[in-house]
Amino acid sequence: MKILVAYYSETGNTRKVAEAIFAAVHRKNKKLLAIDQVDDIASYDLVFCGFPVHHHGVPHHVARFLQSIPQGKKLVLFATHGSLRGGEKALSAFYAAISMLPGRSVIGTFGCRGQVSFQLLDTWMETAQHRSWAKEAQSANGHPDSSDLEDAHAFTETMLYAAEQFHGLDRPS
Ligand SMILES: Cc1cc2nc3c(=O)[nH]c(=O)nc-3n(C[C@H](O)[C@H](O)[C@H](O)COP(=O)(O)O)c2cc1C
Repeated sequence: MKILVAYYSETGNTRKVAEAIFAAVHRKNKKLLAIDQVDDIASYDLVFCGFPVHHHGVPHHVARFLQSIPQGKKLVLFATHGSLRGGEKALSAFYAAISMLPGRSVIGTFGCRGQVSFQLLDTWMETAQHRSWAKEAQSANGHPDSSDLEDAHAFTETMLYAAEQFHGLDRPS
């Protein structure tokens, strides 16, 4: 089984989580790529795809990438966001991503916080649409931290187990 960890990251937060997930895949047949470097998506059996939450949803680049994934593919989604971990605001981005993936199986999702520059937060605090998450994001400084990355590691092991035990994927070499 071939595993891809694909990510989109503008300031490096999601890339850090992608690297932690990649390190946790203790298999030989694996690749870590930015989404714009992926050219043979059909050849992978399990795709981890990560993105930063933008405007409560999925950045356009990532939406296009998700829609290019062939039917039947098994996926794991991960995201970083300024808002609180596990909160409704962060979950809405996963719901948006899943709605773009009819016919593919999303076997799990992982979210953690990612810091946002204070300059951007100041701007968003002025906008009614963004004030709520921007307020929460003020305390995201320093994330993803080592504890987030450890959680990403443990999550990956769970996903690999689930892929092999419940989703019919062979133990990867
Ligand atoms: C244009 C833009 C929109 C954002 N919108 C949200 C949002 O709706 N909710 C949220 O929690 N964080 C939001 N964020 C914060 C990012 O999701 C967060 O900082 C993320 O960790 C950035 O990841 P990256 O460094 O991989 O790009 C936004 C950031 C940007 C730049």
